Amino acid sequence: AEILHVLGARPNFPKAAPVIRALDALAIPGLTQQIVHTGQHYDTLMSDVFFADLGLPEPVANLGVGSGSHGKQTGALLAGLEDLIAERRPELVLVYGDVNSTLAAALVCSKMGVPFGHVEAGLRSFDRTMPEEINRIVTDSLADLLFATSPEAIGLLGQEGISPDKVHLVGNPMIDSLFAALPKLDAAAMRARFSLPERYGVATLHRPGNVDDVAAARELVEAVNEVSRMLPIVLPLHPRGRATLAEAGLVATPDLQIVDPLGYLDFMSLVRGAALVLTDSGGVQEETTALKVPCLTARPNTERPITCTHGTNKLVTPATMVAAAKEALSAEAEWPPEGPPLWDGQAGPRIAHVLKRWLAARR
Ligand code: UD1
Ligand code: UDP
Repeated sequence: AEILHVLGARPNFPKAAPVIRALDALAIPGLTQQIVHTGQHYDTLMSDVFFADLGLPEPVANLGVGSGSHGKQTGALLAGLEDLIAERRPELVLVYGDVNSTLAAALVCSKMGVPFGHVEAGLRSFDRTMPEEINRIVTDSLADLLFATSPEAIGLLGQEGISPDKVHLVGNPMIDSLFAALPKLDAAAMRARFSLPERYGVATLHRPGNVDDVAAARELVEAVNEVSRMLPIVLPLHPRGRATLAEAGLVATPDLQIVDPLGYLDFMSLVRGAALVLTDSGGVQEETTALKVPCLTARPNTERPITCTHGTNKLVTPATMVAAAKEALSAEAEWPPEGPPLWDGQAGPRIAHVLKRWLAARR
């Protein structure tokens, strides 16, 4: 019997690596596991580098779906995954996070009667203008097994009529990857590479709400520029925003370095040593919470409120970012003493144990 992990975009890789490792460690007789890469992300720095950095095994197939509108991309994903799943007939599929590859795999599995589990279930921003929110709602409503990173997920899923029997609070596999990488992180090497002083900031921007519209992007660029005059910033830029952010006036300065996306170990090294992170990423909100690095999230809402209540995260707008940065950098800044429950590096093993029981019950 086979467990098939469907991966496609950058945030999928650090979520899957600890699950794959923990399943391997259990050595369940007769069980094999494989990765299928959908090809949603395809640049070396958006994909390949993560396989090396996280020790992920080679995918058994790459569907090569590439970029496109939501309809075109999701359509290509559905067609490619349907053929693959018909051919391999896995006993269980695992999907991760909230990208289009996740949604497509959920739909295909449901239609083909193949059970699937959703890792990172029950996150809600309550903002249906976000494509990820649609992906999360549909994926959770169809999943046979739901693995939650935070306790409030159970109640949120319950409100949508999802039985608590299917939901398992396991902690956060993203943080398993981070903790496993800690001994390999080298902030000093990143400071040298980017000629940074002791105190520096890191920024990432890629949400459609921030980088698809020139007017919205312009406000954000001005705020990031102003923060960079207090604290030099490195911005590893996601390919999505390149053109629009440039049109909105984003230019490199000595205090604002715009660089290609970084590999996982380089990026986490940079974040670990940072005095402040500006972001609109989902995963980065969590990683900064685990590392206790102050994080300002340029979004009107978050599906990860636990990073605000139990972590270093704060939601900002372009209008509030500069003052929030001053405050976060001041000596008086204080953070909640207790981190999120179960963000302890053991989410992968917890998921693997649930899967072992589930497989045993079916045989
Ligand atoms: C996707 C996810 C988003 C996630 C992000 C993580 C969806 C709907 N969105 O957004 O939730 O936060 O990944 O990074 O699934 N591109 C490249 N090279 C690549 C990949 C993309 O140049 O390897 C460019 C293309 O111009 C493409 C654009 O980025 O059109 C957007 O890529 P896409 O995969 O559609 O969505 P993301 O914005 O990356
Ligand atoms: N990341 C990375 N290099 C970068 C930016 C991000 O390695 O230049 C990692 C980081 O671990 C982050 C993950 O990729 O949590 C997913 O990032 P992204 O912001 O693309 O996706 P999101 O979490 O917003 O869906």
